[in-house]
Amino acid sequence: MQGSKVVRQSVQGKWALVTGASAGIGLALAEQLAASGANLVLTARRADRLEALAGRFIGEYGIKAQVIAVDLADPAAPQKLFSATEDSGLVIDILINNAGFGYYGEFTKGDAAWQRQMVDLNCAAVVHLTNLFLPKMVDRKRGYLMIVASTASYQPLAYMATYAATKVFDRFLAEALAHEVAKHGVMVSALCPGPTDSEFNEVAGLHQIPGRKSQSAEEVARLGLEGLVEGKPWVIPYTAGKIMVFMQRLAPRRLVSGAAAKMFRPKG
Ligand SMILES: NC(=O)c1ccc[n+]([C@@H]2O[C@H](COP(=O)([O-])OP(=O)(O)OC[C@H]3O[C@@H](n4cnc5c(N)ncnc54)[C@H](OP(=O)(O)O)[C@@H]3O)[C@@H](O)[C@H]2O)c1
Repeated sequence: MQGSKVVRQSVQGKWALVTGASAGIGLALAEQLAASGANLVLTARRADRLEALAGRFIGEYGIKAQVIAVDLADPAAPQKLFSATEDSGLVIDILINNAGFGYYGEFTKGDAAWQRQMVDLNCAAVVHLTNLFLPKMVDRKRGYLMIVASTASYQPLAYMATYAATKVFDRFLAEALAHEVAKHGVMVSALCPGPTDSEFNEVAGLHQIPGRKSQSAEEVARLGLEGLVEGKPWVIPYTAGKIMVFMQRLAPRRLVSGAAAKMFRPKG
Protein backbone atom coordinates (compact mmCIF):
# COMPACT_ATOMS: atom_id res chain seq x y z
CA MET A 1 0.00 0.00 0.00
CA GLN A 2 1.10 3.55 -0.73
CA GLY A 3 0.17 6.37 1.62
CA SER A 4 -1.65 9.42 0.31
CA LYS A 5 0.77 12.19 -0.74
CA VAL A 6 -0.89 14.91 1.33
CA VAL A 7 -0.88 12.67 4.42
CA ARG A 8 2.75 11.67 3.88
CA GLN A 9 3.82 15.33 3.74
CA SER A 10 2.28 15.93 7.17
CA VAL A 11 3.05 12.73 9.11
CA GLN A 12 6.30 11.29 7.77
CA GLY A 13 8.79 10.61 10.57
CA LYS A 14 6.31 11.58 13.32
CA TRP A 15 4.92 9.25 16.00
CA ALA A 16 1.21 8.40 15.96
CA LEU A 17 -0.71 6.62 18.70
CA VAL A 18 -3.69 4.66 17.36
CA THR A 19 -6.27 3.18 19.74
CA GLY A 20 -8.27 0.18 18.57
CA ALA A 21 -5.53 -0.68 16.09
CA SER A 22 -6.15 -4.44 16.15
CA ALA A 23 -9.15 -4.42 13.79
CA GLY A 24 -11.37 -2.51 11.40
CA ILE A 25 -11.02 1.24 10.97
CA GLY A 26 -8.20 1.55 13.54
CA LEU A 27 -6.15 -1.08 11.74
CA ALA A 28 -6.74 0.70 8.41
CA LEU A 29 -5.78 4.08 9.93
CA ALA A 30 -2.61 2.55 11.39
CA GLU A 31 -1.65 0.94 8.09
CA GLN A 32 -2.16 4.16 6.11
CA LEU A 33 -0.12 6.12 8.64
CA ALA A 34 2.64 3.50 8.39
CA ALA A 35 2.46 3.59 4.59
CA SER A 36 2.84 7.38 4.84
CA GLY A 37 6.02 7.02 6.90
CA ALA A 38 4.67 7.65 10.42
CA ASN A 39 6.01 5.64 13.37
CA LEU A 40 3.33 3.93 15.40
CA VAL A 41 2.26 3.12 18.92
CA LEU A 42 -0.43 0.49 18.49
CA THR A 43 -2.90 -0.17 21.25
CA ALA A 44 -5.96 -2.37 21.87
CA ARG A 45 -6.55 -5.42 24.09
CA ARG A 46 -5.47 -8.20 21.68
CA ALA A 47 -1.68 -8.01 22.03
CA ASP A 48 -1.05 -10.95 19.66
CA ARG A 49 -2.73 -9.16 16.76
CA LEU A 50 -0.93 -5.90 17.52
CA GLU A 51 2.47 -7.63 17.68
CA ALA A 52 1.85 -9.29 14.31
CA LEU A 53 0.78 -5.95 12.78
CA ALA A 54 3.78 -4.09 14.24
CA GLY A 55 6.11 -6.70 12.77
CA ARG A 56 4.47 -6.46 9.36
CA PHE A 57 4.46 -2.64 9.31
CA ILE A 58 8.14 -2.47 10.30
CA GLY A 59 9.02 -4.95 7.52
CA GLU A 60 6.80 -3.47 4.81
CA TYR A 61 7.11 0.25 5.46
CA GLY A 62 10.46 0.61 7.26
CA ILE A 63 8.90 2.49 10.18
CA LYS A 64 9.30 2.07 13.95
CA ALA A 65 6.40 0.55 15.87
CA GLN A 66 5.64 -0.27 19.51
CA VAL A 67 2.79 -2.22 21.04
CA ILE A 68 1.18 -1.29 24.34
CA ALA A 69 -1.82 -3.54 25.01
CA VAL A 70 -4.38 -2.08 27.43
CA ASP A 71 -8.10 -2.27 28.14
CA LEU A 72 -9.15 1.35 27.67
CA ALA A 73 -12.38 0.81 29.59
CA ASP A 74 -10.10 0.61 32.64
CA PRO A 75 -9.81 4.17 34.05
CA ALA A 76 -6.09 3.61 34.74
CA ALA A 77 -5.28 2.71 31.11
CA PRO A 78 -4.86 6.18 29.54
CA GLN A 79 -2.27 7.21 32.14
CA LYS A 80 -0.49 3.87 31.63
CA LEU A 81 -0.31 4.53 27.89
CA PHE A 82 0.88 8.11 28.38
CA SER A 83 3.54 7.13 30.91
CA ALA A 84 4.82 4.34 28.65
CA THR A 85 5.30 6.75 25.74
CA GLU A 86 6.93 9.35 27.99
CA ASP A 87 9.27 6.76 29.53
CA SER A 88 10.34 5.67 26.03
CA GLY A 89 10.95 9.30 25.02
CA LEU A 90 8.37 9.15 22.22
CA VAL A 91 6.97 12.45 21.00
CA ILE A 92 3.37 11.73 20.02
CA ASP A 93 2.38 14.25 17.35
CA ILE A 94 -0.70 12.35 16.14
CA LEU A 95 -3.36 10.93 18.47
CA ILE A 96 -6.06 8.78 16.91
CA ASN A 97 -8.91 8.10 19.36
CA ASN A 98 -10.60 5.28 17.49
CA ALA A 99 -11.33 2.40 19.90
CA GLY A 100 -15.03 1.97 20.48
CA PHE A 101 -17.95 -0.42 20.31
CA GLY A 102 -21.72 -0.36 20.06
CA TYR A 103 -24.74 -2.25 21.31
CA TYR A 104 -27.78 -2.93 19.17
CA GLY A 105 -31.11 -3.77 20.81
CA GLU A 106 -33.63 -2.42 23.25
CA PHE A 107 -32.01 -0.31 25.96
CA THR A 108 -33.96 -2.06 28.72
CA LYS A 109 -32.79 -5.49 27.58
CA GLY A 110 -29.12 -4.54 27.31
CA ASP A 111 -26.58 -5.51 29.93
CA ALA A 112 -26.07 -2.49 32.23
CA ALA A 113 -22.36 -3.13 32.82
CA TRP A 114 -21.71 -3.44 29.08
CA GLN A 115 -23.50 -0.18 28.33
CA ARG A 116 -21.54 1.55 31.08
CA GLN A 117 -18.33 0.10 29.63
CA MET A 118 -19.30 1.60 26.27
CA VAL A 119 -19.47 5.06 27.84
CA ASP A 120 -16.15 4.44 29.62
CA LEU A 121 -14.43 3.47 26.36
CA ASN A 122 -16.18 5.67 23.79
CA CYS A 123 -16.21 8.83 25.97
CA ALA A 124 -14.20 8.77 29.22
CA ALA A 125 -11.05 7.21 27.73
CA VAL A 126 -11.20 9.66 24.81
CA VAL A 127 -11.33 12.67 27.15
CA HIS A 128 -8.61 11.25 29.39
CA LEU A 129 -6.18 10.44 26.54
CA THR A 130 -6.83 13.81 24.94
CA ASN A 131 -6.20 15.53 28.29
CA LEU A 132 -2.84 13.80 28.53
CA PHE A 133 -1.55 14.24 24.97
CA LEU A 134 -3.14 17.44 23.65
CA PRO A 135 -1.39 19.94 25.99
CA LYS A 136 1.99 18.65 24.79
CA MET A 137 0.94 19.24 21.17
CA VAL A 138 -0.21 22.75 22.07
CA ASP A 139 3.17 23.43 23.76
CA ARG A 140 5.01 22.18 20.67
CA LYS A 141 2.71 24.21 18.41
CA ARG A 142 2.04 21.21 16.19
CA GLY A 143 -0.05 18.06 16.18
CA TYR A 144 -3.07 16.18 14.93
CA LEU A 145 -5.96 14.77 16.93
CA MET A 146 -8.62 12.55 15.39
CA ILE A 147 -11.68 11.35 17.27
CA VAL A 148 -13.67 8.66 15.49
CA ALA A 149 -17.35 9.53 15.89
CA SER A 150 -20.06 8.26 13.51
CA THR A 151 -22.97 9.36 11.34
CA ALA A 152 -24.94 7.91 14.29
CA SER A 153 -24.03 11.19 16.00
CA TYR A 154 -26.34 13.22 13.76
CA GLN A 155 -29.68 11.99 15.15
CA PRO A 156 -30.99 10.19 18.23
CA LEU A 157 -30.90 6.49 17.38
CA ALA A 158 -33.44 4.21 19.02
CA TYR A 159 -32.12 0.67 19.52
CA MET A 160 -28.58 2.04 19.55
CA ALA A 161 -29.44 4.77 22.04
CA THR A 162 -26.36 4.74 24.26
CA TYR A 163 -23.98 4.20 21.36
CA ALA A 164 -25.34 7.12 19.32
CA ALA A 165 -25.20 9.33 22.44
CA THR A 166 -21.52 8.45 22.97
CA LYS A 167 -20.82 9.40 19.37
CA VAL A 168 -22.50 12.83 19.71
CA PHE A 169 -20.19 13.35 22.66
CA ASP A 170 -17.17 12.40 20.52
CA ARG A 171 -18.12 14.62 17.60
CA PHE A 172 -18.96 17.63 19.74
CA LEU A 173 -15.71 17.23 21.67
CA ALA A 174 -13.66 17.15 18.46
CA GLU A 175 -15.48 20.02 16.78
CA ALA A 176 -15.13 22.23 19.87
CA LEU A 177 -11.47 21.39 20.41
CA ALA A 178 -10.75 22.15 16.75
CA HIS A 179 -11.69 25.77 17.49
CA GLU A 180 -9.73 25.90 20.75
CA VAL A 181 -6.39 24.63 19.50
CA ALA A 182 -6.22 25.74 15.84
CA LYS A 183 -4.43 28.91 16.97
CA HIS A 184 -1.67 26.69 18.41
CA GLY A 185 -1.08 24.88 15.13
CA VAL A 186 -2.92 21.71 16.23
CA MET A 187 -5.59 20.25 13.96
CA VAL A 188 -8.55 18.31 15.29
CA SER A 189 -11.05 16.32 13.28
CA ALA A 190 -14.07 14.11 13.97
CA LEU A 191 -14.19 11.20 11.54
CA CYS A 192 -17.86 10.26 11.08
CA PRO A 193 -18.12 6.96 9.20
CA GLY A 194 -21.35 5.31 8.18
CA PRO A 195 -21.65 1.54 7.85
CA THR A 196 -18.09 0.28 7.43
CA ASP A 197 -16.64 -3.22 6.98
CA SER A 198 -15.13 -4.17 10.35
CA GLU A 199 -15.89 -6.31 13.40
CA PHE A 200 -18.25 -3.60 14.70
CA ASN A 201 -21.56 -5.27 13.69
CA GLU A 202 -20.53 -8.60 15.17
CA VAL A 203 -19.54 -7.00 18.49
CA ALA A 204 -22.70 -4.83 18.56
CA GLY A 205 -25.04 -7.67 17.57
CA LEU A 206 -26.21 -5.53 14.66
CA HIS A 207 -27.77 -7.37 11.74
CA GLN A 208 -27.45 -5.81 8.33
CA ILE A 209 -30.00 -3.00 7.98
CA PRO A 210 -31.62 -3.45 4.53
CA GLY A 211 -30.46 -1.00 1.87
CA ARG A 212 -27.35 0.08 3.79
CA LYS A 213 -24.23 -0.68 1.79
CA SER A 214 -21.03 -0.64 3.75
CA GLN A 215 -17.80 1.11 2.86
CA SER A 216 -14.31 -0.36 3.18
CA ALA A 217 -12.32 0.55 6.29
CA GLU A 218 -9.41 1.46 3.98
CA GLU A 219 -11.45 4.13 2.16
CA VAL A 220 -12.82 5.52 5.43
CA ALA A 221 -9.30 5.72 6.86
CA ARG A 222 -7.85 7.41 3.76
CA LEU A 223 -10.55 10.08 3.61
CA GLY A 224 -10.37 10.60 7.38
CA LEU A 225 -6.60 11.12 7.39
CA GLU A 226 -6.71 13.43 4.36
CA GLY A 227 -9.40 15.50 6.09
CA LEU A 228 -7.39 15.60 9.32
CA VAL A 229 -4.21 16.95 7.72
CA GLU A 230 -6.23 19.37 5.57
CA GLY A 231 -7.72 20.85 8.76
CA LYS A 232 -11.34 19.71 8.32
CA PRO A 233 -13.11 19.73 11.72
CA TRP A 234 -15.27 16.80 10.63
CA VAL A 235 -15.22 14.28 7.83
CA ILE A 236 -18.18 12.21 6.63
CA PRO A 237 -16.43 9.74 4.35
CA TYR A 238 -19.35 8.58 2.24
CA THR A 239 -21.63 10.50 -0.08
CA ALA A 240 -24.95 9.02 1.07
CA GLY A 241 -24.06 10.00 4.64
CA LYS A 242 -23.32 13.58 3.62
CA ILE A 243 -26.67 13.84 1.82
CA MET A 244 -28.51 12.27 4.77
CA VAL A 245 -26.92 14.71 7.24
CA PHE A 246 -27.77 17.69 5.01
CA MET A 247 -31.42 16.60 4.53
CA GLN A 248 -31.86 15.98 8.25
CA ARG A 249 -31.06 19.61 8.99
CA LEU A 250 -34.14 20.63 7.02
CA ALA A 251 -36.56 18.14 8.62
CA PRO A 252 -38.25 18.31 12.07
CA ARG A 253 -36.12 16.44 14.63
CA ARG A 254 -38.99 14.19 15.70
CA LEU A 255 -39.55 13.06 12.13
CA VAL A 256 -35.86 12.24 11.75
CA SER A 257 -35.57 10.27 15.00
CA GLY A 258 -38.86 8.50 14.21
CA ALA A 259 -37.61 7.42 10.79
CA ALA A 260 -34.34 6.21 12.29
CA ALA A 261 -36.22 4.25 14.97
CA LYS A 262 -38.33 2.59 12.28
CA MET A 263 -35.26 1.65 10.29
CA PHE A 264 -33.45 0.20 13.30
CA ARG A 265 -36.41 -1.51 15.03
CA PRO A 266 -35.45 -5.18 15.57
CA LYS A 267 -37.48 -7.47 13.32
CA GLY A 268 -39.52 -10.24 14.85
N1 LIG B 1 -17.91 -0.04 11.53
C1 LIG B 1 -18.84 0.89 11.49
O1 LIG B 1 -19.87 0.71 10.82
C2 LIG B 1 -18.63 2.19 12.22
C3 LIG B 1 -19.42 3.28 11.84
C4 LIG B 1 -19.25 4.49 12.49
C5 LIG B 1 -18.30 4.61 13.49
N2 LIG B 1 -17.55 3.54 13.86
C6 LIG B 1 -16.55 3.75 14.93
O2 LIG B 1 -15.29 3.35 14.46
C7 LIG B 1 -14.46 3.00 15.58
C8 LIG B 1 -13.78 1.69 15.26
O3 LIG B 1 -14.73 0.68 15.12
P1 LIG B 1 -14.62 -0.48 14.02
O4 LIG B 1 -15.78 -0.37 13.14
O5 LIG B 1 -13.28 -0.50 13.45
O6 LIG B 1 -14.89 -1.74 14.98
P2 LIG B 1 -13.99 -3.02 15.29
O7 LIG B 1 -13.53 -3.67 14.04
O8 LIG B 1 -14.79 -3.82 16.26
O9 LIG B 1 -12.70 -2.43 16.04
C9 LIG B 1 -12.79 -1.89 17.33
C10 LIG B 1 -11.39 -1.69 17.89
O10 LIG B 1 -11.52 -1.17 19.21
C11 LIG B 1 -10.75 -1.99 20.11
N3 LIG B 1 -11.37 -2.05 21.42
C12 LIG B 1 -12.64 -2.47 21.72
N4 LIG B 1 -12.82 -2.47 23.05
C13 LIG B 1 -11.65 -2.01 23.60
C14 LIG B 1 -11.22 -1.78 24.93
N5 LIG B 1 -12.02 -2.01 26.00
N6 LIG B 1 -9.96 -1.32 25.14
C15 LIG B 1 -9.13 -1.08 24.08
N7 LIG B 1 -9.49 -1.29 22.80
C16 LIG B 1 -10.73 -1.75 22.57
C17 LIG B 1 -10.74 -3.36 19.44
O11 LIG B 1 -9.58 -4.10 19.83
P3 LIG B 1 -9.52 -5.26 20.92
O12 LIG B 1 -10.79 -6.05 20.80
O13 LIG B 1 -8.28 -6.02 20.52
O14 LIG B 1 -9.37 -4.56 22.23
C18 LIG B 1 -10.61 -2.98 17.98
O15 LIG B 1 -9.27 -2.75 17.65
C19 LIG B 1 -15.39 2.95 16.79
O16 LIG B 1 -15.20 4.10 17.57
C20 LIG B 1 -16.78 2.93 16.18
O17 LIG B 1 -17.72 3.53 17.03
C21 LIG B 1 -17.68 2.34 13.24
